[in-house]
Amino acid sequence: MARVNAVDALEVIPSGKALAAEVRGIDLALESPQDVRSALKKAWADNLVLLFRKQKLTDEQLLAVADIFGGHQSAGSRDYFIKAGYKPGETDRVAKHPDISIVSNLDKEGRPVKVTEAVGSSELDWHTDNSYVDVPPAGSLLLSYIVPVKGGGLTSFNNQYLAYETLPADLKKEIEGKHIRHDNLRNTAGRFRPTVQAPKTREDIKGPAHPIVRIHPVTGKQALYLGRKYEWPSSHVVELDDAASEALLAKLWQHATQDKLKWTHDWAVGDLILWDNRCTMHQRTTIDHTQPRVMHRALIKGEPVISAWKPVAAA
Ligand code: OGA
Ligand code: MN
Repeated sequence: MARVNAVDALEVIPSGKALAAEVRGIDLALESPQDVRSALKKAWADNLVLLFRKQKLTDEQLLAVADIFGGHQSAGSRDYFIKAGYKPGETDRVAKHPDISIVSNLDKEGRPVKVTEAVGSSELDWHTDNSYVDVPPAGSLLLSYIVPVKGGGLTSFNNQYLAYETLPADLKKEIEGKHIRHDNLRNTAGRFRPTVQAPKTREDIKGPAHPIVRIHPVTGKQALYLGRKYEWPSSHVVELDDAASEALLAKLWQHATQDKLKWTHDWAVGDLILWDNRCTMHQRTTIDHTQPRVMHRALIKGEPVISAWKPVAAA
């Protein structure tokens, strides 16, 4: 009989920080029976971010891991690259499988560089993935293939349930019923995507408006949902004028990105991290651009954002 994962072998070791746990005793290339799948889902709901070490997976196997946690969906950036002339599977930018993204700092010749058409070696500021689509991914899986040696690219995660819980009462009141508009014109490194013009007005931002506080469909808890921090007009509070919107966003971002809410990971080859985009944000430090760093990412299929705001009764 083929080897399968066993629930008794699973160990979930919390980081001791505001979020995250390491899961030991599992090889995700093997089949996981129902009880293992349930235990993993519970560990994810309890810890928000899970780290699995020494995993060796093909893209198909990575997508099978995504299936444990709810399935997979394509990245919002993929169409921009295809529109700009990249052929899936032919370069390191656009993977063959539509639901795999390649997160790397290699150029077309496979050399590490500072800047690519994607995020390259850049620092990535705090964000949640693909908040600029109508149905954002529930989570993300990132598997490392090549990592720099003492070359940066550390990734941090923060707990946005705690960010909401600890928000001062006056700020909680101020955000009630409000929404942020989310922008897909730039990538996570803040660079405009291929073929995109810089926005000049709020109307140029075509992404969806999501509630500032969302309810997690599994835990039922409320989390702050800020998406990405961009200058006006890319990110704005729909119900406020520009000055009030800027002032409120500045206060929220300052509160949501405090050190006490975060856990940081320094990658080794074979590390797989699963994070929850509904209740965490993440950031990455700059990568030493003389060293290669290659990871593959899959997005966990999302469900429509559940607003913490009661629907306004029809007049
Ligand atoms: C991502 C991301 C962080 C990293 O792939 O969504 O933010 O460490 N990556 O590369
Ligand atoms: Mn990201």
